[in-house]
Amino acid sequence: MQITILSGSPKGDMSVTLQYMKYIESNCKENEYKVFHVGQEIKRIEKDTRLFEEIVDGVSNSDGVVWCTPVYYFLIPSQMKRFIELIYERGVGLAFSGKYAAILTTSVHCSDHTAHDYLRSICEDLGMRYVDGYSADMHDLLHSEERERLVKFAACFFKYIAEDKPTCSVFLPLRYKQPEYVPGEIEDVPKTWGRKIVLISDADDHDYNLNHMIDVFTKSIASEVEVVKLNEIDIRGGCLGCYRCAYDTICVQKDEVMDTYRQKIFPADAIVYAAAIKDRFLSSRWKMFLDRAFFSQHSPPFQGGQILFLISGPLRQVPNLRQWLLTFSECSGASLAGIITDEYEDSAYVTKLIGSHADQLVWAIDERYAVPGTFLGVGVHKVMRDCVYDYKSLFKYDNDFYKEHHLYDFPQKNVGLRAQNLFISLALKNPALRNRVYRDFTKQLVRPLQKVLQG
Ligand SMILES: Cc1cc2nc3c(=O)[nH]c(=O)nc-3n(C[C@H](O)[C@H](O)[C@H](O)COP(=O)(O)O)c2cc1C
Repeated sequence: MQITILSGSPKGDMSVTLQYMKYIESNCKENEYKVFHVGQEIKRIEKDTRLFEEIVDGVSNSDGVVWCTPVYYFLIPSQMKRFIELIYERGVGLAFSGKYAAILTTSVHCSDHTAHDYLRSICEDLGMRYVDGYSADMHDLLHSEERERLVKFAACFFKYIAEDKPTCSVFLPLRYKQPEYVPGEIEDVPKTWGRKIVLISDADDHDYNLNHMIDVFTKSIASEVEVVKLNEIDIRGGCLGCYRCAYDTICVQKDEVMDTYRQKIFPADAIVYAAAIKDRFLSSRWKMFLDRAFFSQHSPPFQGGQILFLISGPLRQVPNLRQWLLTFSECSGASLAGIITDEYEDSAYVTKLIGSHADQLVWAIDERYAVPGTFLGVGVHKVMRDCVYDYKSLFKYDNDFYKEHHLYDFPQKNVGLRAQNLFISLALKNPALRNRVYRDFTKQLVRPLQKVLQG
């Protein structure tokens, strides 16, 4: 069998994820494998159409395709996202259609599922026959039982191809006719409220709806809004994944990204992300900018700020993107003030939504209101906390930040809880006490809360 590997890591042959694929290759020698470094070579692929065609031919002549990529910010790296955009822009989707597909990622399992769902939905949109995904921890390959599992995953993929097995699809195709957003005359609210509101967008002249949403927002809020245009700032490229920023949070790429984050975005009271949906995520330009925030490492950068999303496109049809937006805001240290889209037929309603969210943003900043996290924020925090702790000598900046902000909130550090557990476990050894403890269990849970109610 001919297997094409599309490698998304900017590190090329030095990719951790690719080592997993190489392990599969060395254990399944009956197939022929061809790797294309679409992540590392994206700039060349964009310019050199012959190279792009070579990759497309490789896919076209293969029996199966493996999307082999690290997880970057709960998705794939911007470089691979750009490759996917090129498939659509250059109209070569047919080469992918009907091909068996699998996904192989490495990560620390921090919202890896949104990355998998995104790639799977793209496979299905392209008409590929998606078999399965494999989400390995970065270090799994060091363990014999994990190596065995990996080879079985590959064997299953090859079996599907050999036996021409049918595959399930789980994502409905996008069916969307974008309503035109015509806001009409908007009152420019006096800018009497002096807070730092930053709006970032990659909108160009063709993003009619998004430009109108931005215009309505800037007019509706009682503060000046600083607009950062992603298409105008100098961005040399996507994150290189080199971790050279880990010690002192300085990125090796010398462009305007770090200054934009440090001077404009991190100190803002509110950040408004204005973006149009491209395939099933935001544009690769957006993802590039987001990935490059990695110089600030794993520490939530927007302590106490507010986030608002203005999204143009069928967000209600892409729940995975919605989950990504929620995860992103919950992990950023900011509070989500809302997600507004232009999916409504009634333009006046969209205008009302934007106006009311602008008011709400003012209120939330003044009141310092922060919505509590859900599993998305709480879960990611715990995974990140353990990851930073495990590598605290390498992640020097993170380690200092986590200590300073009391983010190392390991339960075993809670002395009261430990004493209580010791006491209860001793009590449970006695059958009569055990009976009492479980009989009073619900009462004991509520008692401290009732004390609060009594004041
Ligand atoms: C910019 C950046 C973003 C990352 N985001 C995530 C993430 O969201 N979730 C996660 O579990 N790991 C994340 N990681 C860790 C990588 O997925 C992990 O190190 C991976 O094994 C790297 O694979 P590679 O060597 O093939 O590029 C991130 C790493 C970088 C550099």
